[in-house]
Amino acid sequence: MSGYEEINGCLHVDGVSLKDIAAEYGTPTYVYSASVIKDQYNALKGAMERALPADKQPKLCYACKANSNIAVLSYLRSLGSSLEIVSEGELKRGLKAGFDADQIVSTGVGKSDSEITACLEAGIHQFNVESLPELENINKIAGEIGKVATVVFRLNPDVSGGGHHKISTGRTRDKFGISEDTIYSAYGNASNMEHVTPLGMSVHIGSQVFTVETFKTAFEKIPAIVHKLRDQGHDVTRLDIGGGFPIIYKDEKLLDLDNYAEWVRDIILPLDTEIIMEPGRYLVGNAGTLLTRTTYVKETSTRKFLVLDAAMNDLIRPTLYEAYHGIEAVENRDAPTTKYDVVGPICETGDTFSTDRELTEMKRGDLAVIQSAGAYGYCMASNYNTRGLPPEVLVHDGQAHLIKPRQTVDEILEKEIIPDFTKS
Ligand SMILES: Cc1ncc(COP(=O)(O)O)c(C=O)c1O
Repeated sequence: MSGYEEINGCLHVDGVSLKDIAAEYGTPTYVYSASVIKDQYNALKGAMERALPADKQPKLCYACKANSNIAVLSYLRSLGSSLEIVSEGELKRGLKAGFDADQIVSTGVGKSDSEITACLEAGIHQFNVESLPELENINKIAGEIGKVATVVFRLNPDVSGGGHHKISTGRTRDKFGISEDTIYSAYGNASNMEHVTPLGMSVHIGSQVFTVETFKTAFEKIPAIVHKLRDQGHDVTRLDIGGGFPIIYKDEKLLDLDNYAEWVRDIILPLDTEIIMEPGRYLVGNAGTLLTRTTYVKETSTRKFLVLDAAMNDLIRPTLYEAYHGIEAVENRDAPTTKYDVVGPICETGDTFSTDRELTEMKRGDLAVIQSAGAYGYCMASNYNTRGLPPEVLVHDGQAHLIKPRQTVDEILEKEIIPDFTKS
């Protein structure tokens, strides 16, 4: 049994009942299906295998900002994935999960000195550089510790991709990447630097990119730049074409991966470089749910509220991006339906998962899942309202594995310091 399915009237994940998971670990709890992660990884890998020759298969670098639990990273590594990181913390997670440093690429507009140093010392595959000051800084730090950094330059192609303006990253107005002209300057500057070796470009236009044409528009800007750089005598041996593949939250039409892979074959492959990809959400998003229990059903003169024990601190996407997440009862799934405003207990009207959502009738104590919460869920959670972070459970082959326990309130409080002057 794989993925999410109803068995004897109760929702199960990879053969384990969500009711049992709630009984063992409490609620709210993040639950991930290993089989869905594996299927997603293989779907992307398979599309690339069908389109590209065996010796030109891309390095699939999982963008672990989407879900950085070390067990998830370790599992993706076991499937053959490499890793994309955006912080020293994610570097540490990747190394702890068993990735070789050479499988890791570092991205981000604000790489700190200590992050750059740690990446250089570990010997990562490449830095995706986002500005000229960053290039200078990497060269300086590499010089100080006697290293040479391999870099590629992130092109800002001025293409708007992404399912929400806050996750579009490829427009000129966005903070990401550098313009075509600046790429030439960056290569020129780098050729006078002893501690950086520029080997190519990267591009990532956003997240939840629904049309292949959007990727194609960005990809089509690449060949002319590569040819010009080569004409100028520069090496271009790597192209990192980013992530951004969408998942289903509601009734979205998914990207045709074969079609995408064909554009990679037609536009990128002829440039004869190593190809790198950075999928995040696609690998883990649909694998996860946030398992939650009904605290109260509250009726007012105009609304019916389903008050869950999960809140915006656990899953911020609905509040932050007005994102839709499916919500389903775990049991009594054939009960009559009614419309609820589905909310959490936090003291903000924004702590609302959905309004006017048609759901089976629920009562205090009933379990529900908030679906498609495997990406940008737990990793964006906070302690707002002094709520401990929920536990994470990875289900594999009929067995639930706790991969991070619930954070207790004492664990939150013990880090806080009360200066004497406040005590009088
Ligand atoms: C540079 C970079 N690569 C990859 C990703 C992953 O994107 P997605 O989860 O949409 O695949 C992101 C997401 O923000 C990113 O900024």
